[in-house]
Amino acid sequence: MAKKIVVIPGDGIGEEITASAVRVLQRIDEKFRIGMVFEKHDAGGTAYDLYGTPLPQETIDAARVSDGVLFGAVGGDKWDAVAPALRPERAILGLRKNLGLYANLRPVKVADALTEYSPLKPELVRGVDLVIVRELIGGIYFGEKCESEMQDGHERAWDLENYSVPEVERISKLAFETARLRRGRVTSVDKANVLATSRLWRRTVTKVAAGYNDVELNHLYVDNCAMQLAVRPTQFDVIVTGNLFGDILSDEAAVIGGSIGMMPSASIGANTSLYEPIHGSAPDIAGKGIANPIGTILSAAMLLRYSLHEDEAAKAVEDACDKALTDGYRTADLWKDGFTKANTTEMTEIIIKRI
Ligand code: NAI
Ligand code: MG
Repeated sequence: MAKKIVVIPGDGIGEEITASAVRVLQRIDEKFRIGMVFEKHDAGGTAYDLYGTPLPQETIDAARVSDGVLFGAVGGDKWDAVAPALRPERAILGLRKNLGLYANLRPVKVADALTEYSPLKPELVRGVDLVIVRELIGGIYFGEKCESEMQDGHERAWDLENYSVPEVERISKLAFETARLRRGRVTSVDKANVLATSRLWRRTVTKVAAGYNDVELNHLYVDNCAMQLAVRPTQFDVIVTGNLFGDILSDEAAVIGGSIGMMPSASIGANTSLYEPIHGSAPDIAGKGIANPIGTILSAAMLLRYSLHEDEAAKAVEDACDKALTDGYRTADLWKDGFTKANTTEMTEIIIKRI
């Protein structure tokens, strides 16, 4: 059976970087005979210009029945004046909601060739290979809220944090399954010394862990985790946490990687999942053909691993990216004296040659 991959380039550099990733997947298909077919759909400002909406129903429908979605990026100054409900960035929220993307996976792996780009010392960064599993559609971001009310003569506002056992079970299972594909260690992050939701979180994760004897579980408070990420990031394999803590920790962790153009992500749903680089549409370099395609190519590798269960093919893509860097090739964002400069197309070909 053919595997249908929906490709949503979006805006800015989205077109260039998704084209690169598709080229890489086509090479993988020749080698591993997966039978992927690609179908392109619009979203973001580009879709707004064409159809008056950043997320056409047709794109949602195609994504829903796909085996995986490869997403570029959306947004740009061109649409600054567009009404909030029709802004390009709404496409991402709409896809999350419509596809039920309940978890966000952000791996942080620093290529040996790139340790010097990290703000941390090379000896702290060498060997970092972790993934943050963040709950994406629950918690305080989606709880009841009050923008303004008066109490005892003072204005106040509030947001309600709440998690149910099934929500925590679902994300915990994903974290344990992810750990099984890796080094078999899960760190659950909460604030159980203060928050009731965190105590339910901790109880539930611990219960789910009983079904995964081959995975080791430990718990950390979020404030300690924030410190540990800066002090000894190599200690982590899989970090699982709620929406708010995950938002903050995943940005902290991403910076350890040192280069925004290199970082992939996955948003996992029950029926299909979406893969995208963590960076935006980079309007400042769009159309110049110099964007770093590796974040998107590594996102495609995650699609192979998590949606198509083609671990060997995923590894082949990751190794080829690593090799291209070790061999001294750099896109403009990472280029320095002594390295060979490559534009988007050249970098893509260099990687394909190494698969
Ligand atoms: P950005 O990530 O697009 O760019 C930040 C800086 O990093 C820019 O200097 C850019 O040139 C550079 N950069 C980013 N990706 C690169 C790559 N692959 N290769 C080389 N250099 C790269 O963030 P910014 O400028 O804050 O946002 C631009 C637009 O993207 C905005 O409209 C924003 O809303 C949108 N955005 C969309 C996201 C998405 O589609 N998931 C995520 C983040 C921002
Ligand atoms: Mg964030």
